[in-house]
Amino acid sequence: MTDTKFTPRVFSGIQPSGNLTLGNYLGAVRRFVEMQNTGIETIYCMVDLHAITVWQDPADLRQRTRELAAAYLACGLDPQKSILFNQSQVPAHAQLGWLLNCVTRLGWMNRMTQFKDKAGKNAEKMSLGLYAYPSLMAADILAYKATHVPVGEDQKQHVELTRDIANKFNHDYKVDFFPEPEPIIDGAGTRVMSLRDGTKKMSKSDPSDLSRINMMDDADTIAKKIRKAKTDPEPLPDNLDDLAGRPEARNLINIYAGISDQTPEAVIAQVAGQQFGQFKPLLADLAVAHLSPIADEMRRLMNDVTEIDRILGDGANRAAEIAEPILADAYDIVGFVRSR
Ligand code: AMP
Ligand code: TRP
Repeated sequence: MTDTKFTPRVFSGIQPSGNLTLGNYLGAVRRFVEMQNTGIETIYCMVDLHAITVWQDPADLRQRTRELAAAYLACGLDPQKSILFNQSQVPAHAQLGWLLNCVTRLGWMNRMTQFKDKAGKNAEKMSLGLYAYPSLMAADILAYKATHVPVGEDQKQHVELTRDIANKFNHDYKVDFFPEPEPIIDGAGTRVMSLRDGTKKMSKSDPSDLSRINMMDDADTIAKKIRKAKTDPEPLPDNLDDLAGRPEARNLINIYAGISDQTPEAVIAQVAGQQFGQFKPLLADLAVAHLSPIADEMRRLMNDVTEIDRILGDGANRAAEIAEPILADAYDIVGFVRSR
């Protein structure tokens, strides 16, 4: 069902749980900026409630929340055009989260692959929050009746779950209250892979720093990580089909395409026949030219934490103004007595 009765509204979020990576940038933040500039209402969150589903040192969490805000701003999000805030400051997320916990079925949660990946064999030792996390993510989106959710490929299942939750709520209470939001997953950067293993996602939490490019890395570090990226001895072919079975090579082509905003097809046509000894320096130059100004701007913004906190506070007030009436309506639908 595509919902036409709901005004288009974009919501997305990133966890302030580690360094922002090139994967977050190409898969998410870049899309956020594009959507902001289409004129649709855009709301972007630093999801600190999600971050504490695994242990976070309090001082680090504070620092990383501000760093993520600085990254949003440095990448082109404009607090005049988009609402930027940290999740914990708008209680409607947690409140709607509880309602949705009571709508979501255990059978649905048991299918969530991200929980299985994160918990591995230690599921018994994980927090209840980590297990319930996709239902809180649904609340993040539905507290704004958001219709579009730009995310990387790994979040597709969670947005689909959000649709199921919205649908079950509407069905159980016989209302047409929540929209079924659409995931927006496009471009060459929807799944950026580790530089050490082309079959694994580039991740903030990988123990090896060489596996990822962090948005705050300096030029030398970026160049070194690309130079050391795992590859194979073959030259680059002239078409993508011939990259089947060469995940690391394919990943570097995708990264080049993502940063330069071209299709992987266009990139492979330009670099056909090159050895990695030739291609890697090209990629390093491109990455440094694109990412260094963003890192410089992040450092500049981090010198004025008061200003970052002011922007987040203003965003939280504007977000709460949208979410609170929606939550109040949801409470009425559920049958809670309004006693004050
Ligand atoms: P997270 O860092 O898990 O909070 O992810 C924040 C956003 O970045 C989500 O939309 C993810 O899908 C996206 N993302 C994270 N890692 C990658 C990656 N390696 N490639 C593409 N998108 C990613
Ligand atoms: N679960 C997302 C991630 O780990 C982050 C997130 C939380 C999110 N709430 C959201 C993304 C709402 C989109 C919409 O990447």
